Amino acid sequence: MTETEALRDRALTTLITARDRTTLLTSCVEDPDLTAQHSPLMSPLVWDLAHIGNQEEQWLLRAVGGREAMRPEIDSLYDAFEHPRAERPTLPLLPPAEARLYAAEVRGRVLDLLESTAFHGSRLTEAGFAFGMIAQHEQQHDETMLITHQLRTGPQALTAPDPKPAPLFTGPSEVLVPGGSFTMGTSDEPWALDNERPAHRREVASFYIDTTPVSNGAYQAFIEDGGYQDERWWTAAGWAHIRKNSIHAPLFWRRDGKQWLRRRFGVTEVVPPDEPVVHVCWYEADAYARWAGRRLPTEAEWEKAARHDPAGNRSTRYPWGDADPAPEHANLGQRHLRPAPVGSYPEGESPLGVRQLIGDVWEWTASDFLPYPGFVAFPYKEYSEVFFGPEYKVLRGGSFAVDPVACRGTFRNWDYPIRRQIFSGFRTARSEAV
Ligand code: AVJ
Ligand code: FE
Repeated sequence: MTETEALRDRALTTLITARDRTTLLTSCVEDPDLTAQHSPLMSPLVWDLAHIGNQEEQWLLRAVGGREAMRPEIDSLYDAFEHPRAERPTLPLLPPAEARLYAAEVRGRVLDLLESTAFHGSRLTEAGFAFGMIAQHEQQHDETMLITHQLRTGPQALTAPDPKPAPLFTGPSEVLVPGGSFTMGTSDEPWALDNERPAHRREVASFYIDTTPVSNGAYQAFIEDGGYQDERWWTAAGWAHIRKNSIHAPLFWRRDGKQWLRRRFGVTEVVPPDEPVVHVCWYEADAYARWAGRRLPTEAEWEKAARHDPAGNRSTRYPWGDADPAPEHANLGQRHLRPAPVGSYPEGESPLGVRQLIGDVWEWTASDFLPYPGFVAFPYKEYSEVFFGPEYKVLRGGSFAVDPVACRGTFRNWDYPIRRQIFSGFRTARSEAV
């Protein structure tokens, strides 16, 4: 198989995988649950469904294939910038059956286009970029839709097996990442998005980073120690935010006497102490780190811990090397509907022994979302460029809800520091004492 044939194969497989997941997420509840808005932070599920089809039509059938618009009148309904999420339920959206049919019609034509498109000749088609971008886009919305399912109240609609119980992690709690420059970002990963490019050298001073994400048990110690009542641990904006909104614990948590319960996809359960904490905002992650006498890693520190191979003195695609993610490496792809216990996935660890950098929970970093030197918006400014600036914090590594196609050592996610409906956790770091 030539490299182009392999990429074409991969494009086909990833598009099919994404659609299978979309179909599951939009067929496990009845139609009224698809058109309802379960939270003002989220779109109705039926909006995501038609938006997935509409982006696929715009970028593959029109931009790559040169076709006419199938339904030009619906473009503006599914333009994320024209209509904020809160107002989407009031739009004359395609009803569920029509949205399904539209997405399926687009997909049928895309599969023909995929066979006939040369994977070179333009930046959009080079190495099948547009097909990879659209598979990633659909998977990103599949994570968004899973968040909507988590916010939805009512009985359980989704189930998945739990991750294998892990033996208690007995390794060191942190590792030293020696100082020096490393290659951050990528110029040769074919489906990397614009904000991951280009590869460039970054100087990073020696620092220590946690070997695992912060667990629920560790986070509970912060709560029990009065962390949410002690202004010392919080930034001014963080303190104002948790006071105003009466935030005392991660989202979905509820105290029941001496123990903490959480609601997870329609089921209430005891918070498992050995799982990475999830559904915390940046302010909470930052406050916990200060309470622990530590800090959040910068984005460059995170990527160096995840990609720098000291033996080969180069950056790898993933912590475990260059191989595509397999189930033994990381908890990805909604195989499980929860993070795996801290210390899981020994086969996914970095050369220095850092675990679970990929999968389980998105990890908040200390850094604002900014372009790399030499950044060029591609193929549209609204993917990354319009979000650059100090309002957004970077998250790294992907969660259990992210598909491998939308997760890499270089992949960058971002959100407001108040957001916690996302599958967000963190690990901490500290500078090496000099
Ligand atoms: C990269 C997750 C911040 O959901 O807003 C989906 C991904 N961009 N459609 C988002 C995205 C356009 C984006 N994030
Ligand atoms: Fe989108």
